[in-house]
Amino acid sequence: MSSRPRHDSVDKTVLSLIKEDLDFDGVGASHVFVILGASGDLAKKKIYPTLWWLYKDGLLPAKTTFIGYARSKLTMEDIKKKTLPYMKHLEIKHSLLILKVKEGDEQKVEAFFKANEYVAGSYDQTKDFSNLNKQIEQKGDSNRLFYLALPPSVFETVTLNLKAVCMAKGDKWTRVIIEKPFGKDLESSTKLSSHLESLFKEEQIYRIDHYLGKEMVQNLMVLRFANKIFSPIWNRENIASVVISFKEPFGTQGRGGYFDEFGIIRDVMQNHLLQILTLVAMEKPASTNAEDIRNEKVKVLKCIQPIEMENVVLGQYVGNPEGEGEEKEGYLDDPTVPKVKLIVLLSTIDIVILISQCRYVHVCSFSNISVFLALNERKAEVRIQFKDVAGDIFPDGAVKRNELVIRVQPNEAVYLKMMTKSPGMSFNSEETELDLSYGSRYKGMKLPDAYERLILDVFYGSQIHFVRSDELYEAWRIFTPLLHKIESEKPKPIPYVYGRTGMDKNKE
Ligand SMILES: NC(=O)c1ccc[n+]([C@@H]2O[C@H](COP(=O)([O-])OP(=O)(O)OC[C@H]3O[C@@H](n4cnc5c(N)ncnc54)[C@H](OP(=O)(O)O)[C@@H]3O)[C@@H](O)[C@H]2O)c1
Repeated sequence: MSSRPRHDSVDKTVLSLIKEDLDFDGVGASHVFVILGASGDLAKKKIYPTLWWLYKDGLLPAKTTFIGYARSKLTMEDIKKKTLPYMKHLEIKHSLLILKVKEGDEQKVEAFFKANEYVAGSYDQTKDFSNLNKQIEQKGDSNRLFYLALPPSVFETVTLNLKAVCMAKGDKWTRVIIEKPFGKDLESSTKLSSHLESLFKEEQIYRIDHYLGKEMVQNLMVLRFANKIFSPIWNRENIASVVISFKEPFGTQGRGGYFDEFGIIRDVMQNHLLQILTLVAMEKPASTNAEDIRNEKVKVLKCIQPIEMENVVLGQYVGNPEGEGEEKEGYLDDPTVPKVKLIVLLSTIDIVILISQCRYVHVCSFSNISVFLALNERKAEVRIQFKDVAGDIFPDGAVKRNELVIRVQPNEAVYLKMMTKSPGMSFNSEETELDLSYGSRYKGMKLPDAYERLILDVFYGSQIHFVRSDELYEAWRIFTPLLHKIESEKPKPIPYVYGRTGMDKNKE
């Protein structure tokens, strides 16, 4: 996960628009946000900094306090020390990039930490949760948000204890935020879902897939359903293929153990990329209500058959002898990859997904999703390629297919590759772009980070950008047979060199 420091606060126009939307019943009520696993990596790099940005930008309900909870005997000063480096801005001083709290924000930072408390306790003893509850009760009647920044192994005992002694009372609500992985396959995920369903209502559970908080992922619905030009051509008669890809310019970075256990399918495909696919393929929802949107996403997933091995290409990066530093090392050279299981490698995967929904049936390789580590660039994008112009009157090969590209990261952009006359005396055609690059169209505008949007959504009770349990079920149904097959048969992956543009699929 990226934990790069932000350059500045969210743009003022964006802020005022967000603030206008934030008028909800109970905004004046007291809120307590509890971070379970407050001593951990996610809390330090993402949750505390995100709460700080929201606090600093005045987006949280006024009476909000924060309580960190974990087993470690820590003080708030310890937590502050750990997380402060991730709360700073990048500033340029004497041509040097430096990290610092923005001038004028020092007092606000102090106020933020004053609104924070820390409680140490176990994850399985009810008396410790009663202690946490006492601390929450000191804030008076409050709405309660619990963020489980914890390993999945303790989800069960923690949620049981929350339900037993930490729920809000009277007219106040309780919401629980959980992070992926939501299980390891269909069976474990269903078990977790059943457990959560036995304790909480679906509207109390917020499953975070941070891709749903990204600007361009959220833009997909607007592009598709607020533009007349796209709706008549968004079907099998006009679309040749949809390609969703994710590339990183680095390898496992010492997280080989994690990759070997969870793999890239679970880490990126089954969640982030499949979410993008459903937004690209779904029918227009009846409204922008969370349930209407999620109903349409589930319908797409139900039309996808479990992925067959014959539609999959597995790859594994090898060191580049001409590269520098980490580039010289392949996946197998990472000492954190367990040597006993060296063959189960999912550093790259390329999958063709077939959707049997009538809008797309027979669209040749409707969707291809691929994930690469250790390539030459960092990129996540969607490419929708349209079919050839019928009855082409131009010389053979002169006209290229139209392509709509939605770049999720880096440098958010939407552009349409299209043909135009070459300027000047010539009557030749050439390919060009209708280009909406956010960097130039919305110059200087700072977009909120995905976690900021999502945590704010939880405060304000919007589940549009969270994963519902039936979506999760379908996503695992699609990928589980493939995962089990890879794990049992250990197919040999195709090697590709660190830092190259991709791999040759025909190479054995
Ligand atoms: N880090 C990320 O960038 C990231 C990104 C996406 C999703 N996630 C998910 O978010 C959750 C938290 O991630 P994290 O990286 O913050 O995890 P972490 O640092 O390994 O764990 C968080 C805290 O949980 C406690 N803990 C760790 N291992 C434990 C164990 N075996 N049994 C009981 N308690 C244990 C520790 O606190 P105490 O010992 O003080 O109790 C630790 O500080 C995980 O589910 C992870 O998969 C993380």
